[in-house]
Amino acid sequence: MEEEDISWAHNLDVILFSDAAWDKQEMLEAFLPGRRFVVAEKEGRLGWAGMDASGTRAHILSIDVEPNFQGRGVGTALISSLLSSAQRMGKAKCVLEVACSNAPALALYKKFGFSAKGRIKGYYSPSLDALVMEKDLD
Ligand SMILES: CC(C)(COP(=O)(O)OP(=O)(O)OC[C@H]1O[C@@H](n2cnc3c(N)ncnc32)[C@H](O)[C@@H]1OP(=O)(O)O)[C@@H](O)C(=O)NCCC(=O)NCCS
Repeated sequence: MEEEDISWAHNLDVILFSDAAWDKQEMLEAFLPGRRFVVAEKEGRLGWAGMDASGTRAHILSIDVEPNFQGRGVGTALISSLLSSAQRMGKAKCVLEVACSNAPALALYKKFGFSAKGRIKGYYSPSLDALVMEKDLD
């Protein structure tokens, strides 16, 4: 991700998550040391994903795919790219949080071998829990 991608990435997050979207300041944290944010492009931007790899474990922070391009392998490409980076950085595990009601995201992460290790009550809203998912990297 480059600085010129930030407005598009933020707008897509607002389309997908409304009030719960990242704010622009948070998006600029993409450029902090240890962060890796990637954009999928093919004749235009199709999606983005971000990871914090500053700690001992890689932590996937977000993934957004343009609504018209969902279900066409973009999410798979983005997660593959982040996991490859995490492996190259020598991380032993990758973790993430996902809304327990988000079937497409759960299916995407399970496809990559993530499994649920815990649940955080009220993480997204009082009635929406997060599943904490984890995958060993080798
Ligand atoms: C979740 C999301 C990133 C997936 O990206 P995508 O480009 O649609 O995913 P892909 O096309 O690579 O599909 C990957 C897998 O996810 C699953 N999947 C995708 N869309 C699905 C759907 N609508 N319902 C159920 N499973 C779905 C399938 O298992 C698929 O694997 P397969 O095609 O090999 O069977 C995308 O739907 C999205 O941006 N959603 C809104 C934002 C969001 O919820 N982000 C996740 C935050 S944790």
